[in-house]
Amino acid sequence: MPFWVYTDHAWFEREIETMFRPAWHFAGLASSVGKAGDFFTLRLLGESLLVVRGDDGEVRVFRNSCSHRGSLILDQEAGNCRALRCPYHSWTYSLEGVLKYAPGLDQYGRHELPGLGKNLVRVPSGIREGLIFVHLGDLANSPTLDDYLGNFTSTVAVPHQTAQMIAVNQREYVLDSNWKLYVEVDMETLHTKHIHRSSIGAQPVTSPLSEGNWIGVYHESEHTPALHPSERRTGFPHTRGLTGAASRGTHFSILLPGFFVVTAQDTMWWIHKIPESATRTRVRVGYSFPTSTTERTDFDELSKRYYKRLDQVIEEDDWITEHQQKGLNSSAPGCYLPEEHVVHRLDNWILDQVLGA
Ligand code: FES
Ligand SMILES: [Fe+2]
Repeated sequence: MPFWVYTDHAWFEREIETMFRPAWHFAGLASSVGKAGDFFTLRLLGESLLVVRGDDGEVRVFRNSCSHRGSLILDQEAGNCRALRCPYHSWTYSLEGVLKYAPGLDQYGRHELPGLGKNLVRVPSGIREGLIFVHLGDLANSPTLDDYLGNFTSTVAVPHQTAQMIAVNQREYVLDSNWKLYVEVDMETLHTKHIHRSSIGAQPVTSPLSEGNWIGVYHESEHTPALHPSERRTGFPHTRGLTGAASRGTHFSILLPGFFVVTAQDTMWWIHKIPESATRTRVRVGYSFPTSTTERTDFDELSKRYYKRLDQVIEEDDWITEHQQKGLNSSAPGCYLPEEHVVHRLDNWILDQVLGA
């Protein structure tokens, strides 16, 4: 693609409208809100969201915005609460988002002031195999969650037992690069021997058949790719219940547009790219392991080795995408090599969305 698609503001706005608004986005793991009152917050496409498990056991997503005058309700990243209380004037909502207490308003009676005293605004969401997804656009003109995911659920999520995963380490930061650069670097092996010389090593991949809005590659190996090459035989045991290709290797998948998730035999991690502007990207990183692994007595010791290897690779990719962004000022188009055929496919998908048929 011409390099200006990584810098141009009008193009960026069309990407948001044609790709990000109709999409379903990963929000987090259902296991992170395991019991009533557990919550976490996140920002997606400029919106503050609140994910909370109700007393009825259901996980709901709300706009993290008070129905009085719009204040943020919760500002902690995660925690547990008995009710959702806005700090400004103490309007208080149940875990199901229903306004229960509104000092100042209740003396007038909620029915006398139409338009006031509303409940929290719910955001469409769904859970598949322990992964929570949200939708921030016009649902009536967008695919359903299952249509959006296509065979991602049956090819990746179910065989890799993603429902067993617990997030153990999460962080978020902003990079000075276009979101596409980071999705592209995840989908090619050409850079591996240059950027990840010591951290990854050779990693041949094949492309599984994907239907729906995801693209993936698959690396077959008995040992985990989540440790340094010299330590791979010392990893945690495989997750219980893996089936088919998931028991023999790792899927690296992009759930389009920006959710990159790696499902290995012993762990799952993600690097979620959320566009902030044409040249800025919010990155949400999470590492997770099956419950049985986190309960092992050697978990703290051994998991440090995973974090070290995963952190190193992510820092290397963070660096190269910001470095690449600084050079995107030539008007001549670039090219793809055979090892970059998945990037070619990805970029064609982007062009189809933004430009239409
Ligand atoms: S803005 Fe939330 S109670 Fe007033
Ligand atoms: Fe990389």
